Amino acid sequence: MQSGKITPAIIRGMKARGEKIASLTAYDYPMTRLLDECGVPLILVGDSLGMVVLGYPDTTHVTMDEMEHHVRAAARAKPRALLAADLPYRSYDDPKLAVANARRLVAAGAEAVKGEGVLMDSVRAIIGGGIPFIGHIGMLPQSILEEGRYHIKGKTDVEGATLLDHAMMLERAGAFAIVLELVHAPIAKAITENLSIPSIGIGSGRACDGQILVVNDLIGTFPWFTPKFVQPKINAAAQIKAAIGEWKAQI
Ligand code: KIV
Repeated sequence: MQSGKITPAIIRGMKARGEKIASLTAYDYPMTRLLDECGVPLILVGDSLGMVVLGYPDTTHVTMDEMEHHVRAAARAKPRALLAADLPYRSYDDPKLAVANARRLVAAGAEAVKGEGVLMDSVRAIIGGGIPFIGHIGMLPQSILEEGRYHIKGKTDVEGATLLDHAMMLERAGAFAIVLELVHAPIAKAITENLSIPSIGIGSGRACDGQILVVNDLIGTFPWFTPKFVQPKINAAAQIKAAIGEWKAQI
């Protein structure tokens, strides 16, 4: 990987060079700084913060104000990594709203924004406004109220073809990467092979150009729920409890 600030062009170039893109979420200054010190090139202030930081049942409760607050905190780490931020639920329903809210996230310190699905007029307006955009297809957490549960997408031929179609639409519109969430692994592989921009998978098999995880799932700081596809590397919650228990016993 090159030295210096990571840009969308560098993330795109990683696919061309066959370098896997490791991406994680962060919602505050210390975690952004730690991930940056680990050389993670793409850090996302995800709206997953709704669950793992703010205690909401899903991402649909997250507001623009809350996203801005966390983006500002993450941006204070001044990472070398590209810092992207999620456009929260219903904040990009039409092009005007989408551009205004994307600009708010950029003003808070985001260097790219991510939005779910194929609201193509909004996507084109954001990209047309000069803001780098990451697409997100497959299982869309902001659609959980309609979907009712998190499940794999693309198992039927029709659904697989639609996902490929959507990925191509986002690439043509100018997205510089696309998150594939809970996409049936063979379809994620086909999408990855057809795209010239990187696919970044989450629960979508190993063939994607990169992988993204909610950092809390990887290090075990949200022990009350861990998605099936994550193998936590440490159980930080247990270590925190043990450390506090030890301290309590000493006072
Ligand atoms: O909100 C989020 O954290 C995300 C990903 C993990 C893809 O969208």
